[in-house]
Amino acid sequence: MIKKYSYGTPFQTDTIITPLETSASTVEFGSILLSEGFQFTYKMADNDIVYGLGEANRGINKRGFIYDNDCFDNPHQTEEQRSFYAAHNFIIIDGTEHFGMYFDYPGKITFDIGYTLQDTLTVSCENADLNLYVITGDTSYDIVKQFRKIIGRSYIPPKYAFGFGQSRWGYKARQDFENVVTNYRENHIPIDMLYMDIDYMDSFKDFTVNEDEFSDFEGMVNDMQKKHIHLIPIIDAGVKIEDSYDIYEEGKENSYFCKREDGTDFEAAVWPGLTHFPDVLNPDARAWFGSKYERLISKGIDGFWNDMCEPAIFYTPEGVAEYKNYLKNDLLTSETFPNFDARTKAEGLANSPEDYKRFYHNINGKMVRHDKVHNLYGMNMTRAAFEGLEKLEPNKRFLLFSRSSFIGAHRYGGVWTGDNCSWWSHLLLNIKMMPSLNMCGFLYAGADIGGFGSNTTRDLLLRWLAFGVFTPLMRNHSAIGTRNQECYSFEHIEDFRHVVGVRYRLLPYIYSEFMKAAISDDMYCKPLAFEYSDDNMCRQVEDQLMIGNEIMITPVYTQNTSGRYVYLPEEMKFIKFMPNGTISETVLDKGHHYIEVQLNEVPLFIRRNKCIPIVNAAECVDDIDISSMKMIGYTDADYDLYDDDGISIIR
Ligand code: NOJ
Repeated sequence: MIKKYSYGTPFQTDTIITPLETSASTVEFGSILLSEGFQFTYKMADNDIVYGLGEANRGINKRGFIYDNDCFDNPHQTEEQRSFYAAHNFIIIDGTEHFGMYFDYPGKITFDIGYTLQDTLTVSCENADLNLYVITGDTSYDIVKQFRKIIGRSYIPPKYAFGFGQSRWGYKARQDFENVVTNYRENHIPIDMLYMDIDYMDSFKDFTVNEDEFSDFEGMVNDMQKKHIHLIPIIDAGVKIEDSYDIYEEGKENSYFCKREDGTDFEAAVWPGLTHFPDVLNPDARAWFGSKYERLISKGIDGFWNDMCEPAIFYTPEGVAEYKNYLKNDLLTSETFPNFDARTKAEGLANSPEDYKRFYHNINGKMVRHDKVHNLYGMNMTRAAFEGLEKLEPNKRFLLFSRSSFIGAHRYGGVWTGDNCSWWSHLLLNIKMMPSLNMCGFLYAGADIGGFGSNTTRDLLLRWLAFGVFTPLMRNHSAIGTRNQECYSFEHIEDFRHVVGVRYRLLPYIYSEFMKAAISDDMYCKPLAFEYSDDNMCRQVEDQLMIGNEIMITPVYTQNTSGRYVYLPEEMKFIKFMPNGTISETVLDKGHHYIEVQLNEVPLFIRRNKCIPIVNAAECVDDIDISSMKMIGYTDADYDLYDDDGISIIR
């Protein structure tokens, strides 16, 4: 059962697509205070678990920390960070009482889940203008399913997007991309997608291509397609300010950019230098920006990733002027730690809350200050792209995912979780984040495999790939200046060929389970406790996941180990994809076990009385030979395989 409560004048965020009547009663759980902004407080019992928050820090159980949902371009995803790139305001309290809550509020909102007081959950925001949805149900899983029904069906990518993709910030010329493909293909490491980061553009201008490096871009896209490679270009939020750059000129002429209070176009520095932000919250501007994706579609492109859409700001002219003033007037005269202050202020030029108060959106003729609706920018950029592509080719699926999101964006595209690092702790974070993202509707999701920042190691990349085999978005991405991270950059390439190959052996299952989940508003990736709700031990498990309805995965995420402890809530078949192509199968009883898993093996467990299809390894999705399909696991059982043409829209 879902009840809606309204406070003040809520902003229409478009998260919820099912109209619900506002309840006249008061919320039956916890208490609400409306004196200074909005505050919800609830006393948690010792054993209560709090699930949710989608893309957020820490564990599957969110207790014991404080989260500021305030989309933030933050490449330092350390344990103390409160804000990530997305804001997913959905939580579930699972314990003595059982309910879910969606806080439909587009600005910064804080979830203190036992941080200030261990037993107290407080959710607060500055303005008491929001809709609150309270969902009751028998289990957390049931609550998620009810929530998912009112937020609409998750985005469905084309089938090729379930292949493996290679990315790196730093590929600059046609030759760089060709080298990557040649290396993958010659080493027979499967691959379907090659991502183009900002350097493919002319001076980082959206929807342009650097003609010097890509003189025949269309020909290149075509050649790649012949090799079964989809090129996936990046699109950034900021539009470069440059006379005679037509997108800039058009946006300016039609008032499609975000404005300062005085009506002039707001300026922020990002990769291209000074830019304007398309006002994607304004339907006309959104349609305009979305229509521009056609420029690359017409060259044969069939997928995009949207970046910097928090929107990220390196600095603004106003911020710099203030800083200069400070340097001139205050730095030398200040008596309190002047150097420290100067550094903090310089760092604070980026993504400054002050800058987010300096610009406005035109929403149905009303000027709305950006900070009030900050968390909606990424979602509306994804929406711009989705709607633009839909208009162009109404019956075709495109690959589309973005960095910043709000619940609702899950209908338009997937997400990647931004700039992680090549750290073992970030592999674990990736594992823990996947089910939370699924609760919020983001099924097509994944992290930068191998880690984006800092230098990866061979063992980390292999372990991460062995987990990435199960994440719908499986992409190796790394930052400019870091060690090369392509699978062929390391010794014993055959191990990488094998691990990535397992993704393709499992692809019919992964696709089938993803599609079934998407079509029925279900979860593809779940915490164990969602399946085994009567098993108390499962409530504690944070490093094993259910993938689809048949399997449980137990990724290895620590260095210098040749295995790990696992908990089995029931008898299961322990499967290992061995490097020589064989599959080892052992039946293990309910309980705790230590399993051996070498770096070049991919483990999974098949649940009792279930089986899954596997096929021979292939080097791209197009080459998967369905006739090689056979069942593994408890093969007396039936498996209901979903399949389709992989490209038409599912109505
Ligand atoms: C930030 C993104 O998070 C990262 O993935 C990308 O490589 C850089 N921007 C450069 O475009």
